[in-house]
Amino acid sequence: MSRSAHPAGPRHADVLPEGHYSAPPADLNALDGKVWAQTVSRDDHGVVAVGGIPVTRLAEEFGTPAYILDETDFRARARAWRTAFGHDADVFYAGKAFLSRAVVRWLNEEGLNLDVCSGGELATALSAGMPADRIAFHGNNKSTDEIRRAVEAGVGRIVLDSFQEIVRVAHIARELGRRQRVQIRVTVGVEAHTHEFIATAHEDQKFGIPLAGGQAAEAVRRALQLDGLELIGIHSHIGSQIFDMSGFEVAAHRVVGLLKDIRDEHGVELPEIDLGGGLGIAYTSDDDPREPHEIAKALTEIVTRECEAARLRTPRISVEPGRAIVGPTAFTLYEVGTVKPLDGLRTYVSVDGGMSDNIRTALYDAEYSVALVSRSSDAAPMQARVVGKHCESGDIVVKDAFLPADLAPGDLIAVPATGAYCRSMASNYNHVTRPPVVAVRDGVARVIVRRETEEDLLRLDVG
Ligand code: LLP
Repeated sequence: MSRSAHPAGPRHADVLPEGHYSAPPADLNALDGKVWAQTVSRDDHGVVAVGGIPVTRLAEEFGTPAYILDETDFRARARAWRTAFGHDADVFYAGKAFLSRAVVRWLNEEGLNLDVCSGGELATALSAGMPADRIAFHGNNKSTDEIRRAVEAGVGRIVLDSFQEIVRVAHIARELGRRQRVQIRVTVGVEAHTHEFIATAHEDQKFGIPLAGGQAAEAVRRALQLDGLELIGIHSHIGSQIFDMSGFEVAAHRVVGLLKDIRDEHGVELPEIDLGGGLGIAYTSDDDPREPHEIAKALTEIVTRECEAARLRTPRISVEPGRAIVGPTAFTLYEVGTVKPLDGLRTYVSVDGGMSDNIRTALYDAEYSVALVSRSSDAAPMQARVVGKHCESGDIVVKDAFLPADLAPGDLIAVPATGAYCRSMASNYNHVTRPPVVAVRDGVARVIVRRETEEDLLRLDVG
């Protein structure tokens, strides 16, 4: 089934049989701290609050659907990553997970660096004051205009992804009288999945330059010859939503092998190694993510061990978590519009958003959880599927969920762990406008990305 081919989903589609429900949770009103943002709790009246503000008030003030982001949690997670890796390593937040100017400021204040992968992300980062030397610029097909802007701005590193790009960046840097710091992204031959990694077929994708066949070594040879470039390291990103560290172990082993070959051939020890992002989060209570300090310890040990074995100085490590920082910090708040029981099957609960604000379920068969948040309920659990308002039957937000059987139109429900890759992959399908992102902290809620309006849509349509 083509839908299960992408590794980014939290679980492969085939792991659970179609229509599978695990047992209903003992308490439908409980909020599992693993999947909900740090300051989320249910108050004495049964209403869920975040940052001290009840969701009913948020819905009234900002409307639904809305992404509600817990700023306290975001900062805490960013800080935890920063602290875990210490001063001898760098944490680059992957902006593709979710980027806005407020987020850039928080990152800046918390001492994180930023990975961008397009001119738009670069513009957002620079306009919010991220120092250019703390920005890494990624992408498998950066335009010459994007490269020029990045070099001109003075980004800390450009991650080279192809032979053409090595020459392009070198040429542009020379034209601008610069020497651009670069890394080369290599594909190491492991593809990390949630529960497994497959040692074949992974090179059959668009990113990076394969280690296999000496291609990466040739890329290094060329980069070292070009005076517009300063080659500072090797980059590897093995996949998404990873819980198992063994993929990183193999990746580090192979990257260090390349560093050793470079030392032997060119007499230079490259000072940096970037192991990418991809660390998993809990979308449901079944997921067990690792803490940043465990990840930092594991990665540092792996790289140190490999370097000792190769008699290399241990390079400076960097990582690029996106989902692991922003994912758990937000939930999507929806209003229930219709409740449609289908006898012997399940109850379809339609909300006022859908695949335009969360494409991950349709795209990756991703699993989410959901809760009634505007009140508590003692009703029995019903098997439900949360669907959107789009003209498409694949418009599913939460495929298998238990919700209280007294759920009714007008109730507010929320889907946790939607901070990563939901707003950033949102669309205007069916000319539905994209929801706002509301940041909540210490009893104050503010819009950091406003709701799109029909005027916004019409402004793009020049008639
Ligand atoms: N670094 C590089 C080079 C990447 O390509 C990515 C993700 C990351 C870091 C951050 O990965 P994270 O820590 O957020 O998993 N849209 C998909 C995932 C595609 C991610 C692409 N690259 C999703 O919704 O799961």
